[in-house]
Amino acid sequence: MARKIALLGGTGAEGSGLAYRLAKAGEHILIGSRDAVRAQETAKLLRERIGGAAQIEGMDNPSATAACDIAVLTVPFSGAVALLRQLKSVWKPGTIVIDTTVPLAATVGGAATRVLGVWQGSAAQQTQELLPAGVSLAAAFQNLGADVLASDNPVDCDVLVCSDDEKAKQVAAELVGKIPGARALNGGKLENARIVAPFTALLAGLNMRYKVDGAGIRFTGLPLKWNPQPPGTRLSLLLSRQAVTNR
Ligand SMILES: NC(=O)c1ccc[n+]([C@@H]2O[C@H](COP(=O)([O-])OP(=O)(O)OC[C@H]3O[C@@H](n4cnc5c(N)ncnc54)[C@H](OP(=O)(O)O)[C@@H]3O)[C@@H](O)[C@H]2O)c1
Repeated sequence: MARKIALLGGTGAEGSGLAYRLAKAGEHILIGSRDAVRAQETAKLLRERIGGAAQIEGMDNPSATAACDIAVLTVPFSGAVALLRQLKSVWKPGTIVIDTTVPLAATVGGAATRVLGVWQGSAAQQTQELLPAGVSLAAAFQNLGADVLASDNPVDCDVLVCSDDEKAKQVAAELVGKIPGARALNGGKLENARIVAPFTALLAGLNMRYKVDGAGIRFTGLPLKWNPQPPGTRLSLLLSRQAVTNR
């Protein structure tokens, strides 16, 4: 049976943008919401936009969580703790969670160009504390804006994937690879999410100053594709070189 990817808060800008891109790439999507009807409406709009055999269903967040193999957390920072507490007994062991949350000050009425301090270090580390054993977590997509995702153009952005769990990191990187133009980069441990997320506030400022809606981040001097081999192996070196040559 094909895997199912839940977008918790998938009625919003970031969640529906990711749902659109992943459904277009052939993934089976579950839109989650506090309101099942709202989720069904978003799912219908996305199905109509994609057409064909797009597999997108809408349901409440607990139902999406119970039914999914991968859950992408796309609710505002201010709502994440309450949602994760609600879901604590719902997760299936083996589920992979991908956290996109940025603790923007805007989420509590402040500026979109500032981030809040998070006691645990980052929103993702806070999420980690609220997940049961057997559910693994990666942080990703924090710097990939909703406006860019909503368009049909290739995105021009690197996506740093941070996790303490190798499988979660691989799965998140694989999903990044389904979005044309996006390059997944191994961002190291989950704690590095505290470095990655604040860049989003900087990007919000750049969007305002340059009057654009798609500022993104690119790193130089790295292989052009995600490299699953451990660094330093001869094979990984060869694959990296081949990726560069093939480009
Ligand atoms: N927007 C971006 O460009 C962007 C870029 C990178 C990362 N992110 C991250 O993605 C997440 C979502 O951003 P967004 O712009 O899509 O936010 P949003 O549109 O304001 O909210 C997303 C959805 O979350 C649900 N929600 C709102 N308040 C909630 C609460 N208190 N408790 C539970 N659910 C709540 C709502 O769905 P229902 O009402 O249907 O439940 C809403 O449609 C944020 O954590 C943000 O930092 C966003």
